[in-house]
Amino acid sequence: MTELERLQASCLFEVARCGDLKKLDILKNAILGKNGKIAEYVKELKNLNSEAKRKFGSEINSFKSKITEELNSKKQELKTKELEGKLLSEFVDVSLPPRPDHPGRIHPLTKVEEEISNILSSYGFSFADGPDIENEYFNFTAMNMPDHHPARAMHDTFYIQQLADNNGRKLLRTHTSPVQIRTMLSNKPPLRFFSIGRVYRSDYDATHTPMFSQIEGIIVEKNIGFSHLKWILSDFLRRFFEAKNLKIRFRSSFFPFTEPSAEVDINYEIQDGKIVFGIGEKWLEVCGCGVIHPNVLNYGDVDVTKYQGIAFGFGLERLTSLKYGIPDLRGYFEPDERWISTFGFPFSTK
Ligand code: DAH
Repeated sequence: MTELERLQASCLFEVARCGDLKKLDILKNAILGKNGKIAEYVKELKNLNSEAKRKFGSEINSFKSKITEELNSKKQELKTKELEGKLLSEFVDVSLPPRPDHPGRIHPLTKVEEEISNILSSYGFSFADGPDIENEYFNFTAMNMPDHHPARAMHDTFYIQQLADNNGRKLLRTHTSPVQIRTMLSNKPPLRFFSIGRVYRSDYDATHTPMFSQIEGIIVEKNIGFSHLKWILSDFLRRFFEAKNLKIRFRSSFFPFTEPSAEVDINYEIQDGKIVFGIGEKWLEVCGCGVIHPNVLNYGDVDVTKYQGIAFGFGLERLTSLKYGIPDLRGYFEPDERWISTFGFPFSTK
């Protein structure tokens, strides 16, 4: 065994038993570095004749490449080990129960969603869902807002420009109303559905957030009309606001997807700095509604000679803020522990 071969064997042995990235770096320097072991041999080359120089030079080169290969694969191995160790030590078991001294709170939106679902199911409504990423056809066209309809511009839509197909550009839905069409297309009337979900508009201040939630209700049946809509919404609002004497005003309005259309106001008064519903002569708008436009029923493949429809839409955060006195809309979506401690609800101890 030559001296160089012996050195190679001992270097490979050192690399193989190295168990630490820092030590490996020091070892690499000691072998391949400027003043390392190999450099010493390279210095000797100049004293050799050309024949011996070529032979010794090629031996040094193969030693270099062998040791470099081993150093690299060792480095990879140690890096993987380090990562595995890190993942293991930083593991969080999300299935563990919450800390007993910190049980968490129910988000006001979750609470109100449950209250609303309970009331609407008592009228025979079932839950329907639709995608957050909609397209122009369902969000606008099928809701009786053809291309260039001015109502499209009012919605401050987030378009996903790159994505488009036969149904137009993709977009983040600006309202839950497209669920109406999807429900009509996938079910045969009679229909009684509600949906609760997130909607998106490019707007941001104390009363507008780019993401908020809406509730949509729809009935498609024989012999259904505005009087049924009035009864359902009146009863719903009195139960939701827990105010038997709540006054409800249907104010004529316009939506492209309903005819006739109305906005619904409820009466209130401020007492000791707090809003009280069902007394006083002040009015607050809470909802939009109407008799579904025949064009919308046609888009939903509903036989308009047999069926009529009624629909309504609420803003979920608005209802929640009014009922529970939550001032600023932005807090709903910020992960602030202080907000949820103030406005959240304790878990039921039942
Ligand atoms: N989609 C409307 C909006 O976002 C709300 C609405 C109004 C929904 C009237 C309805 C309705 O179903 O009948 O402003």
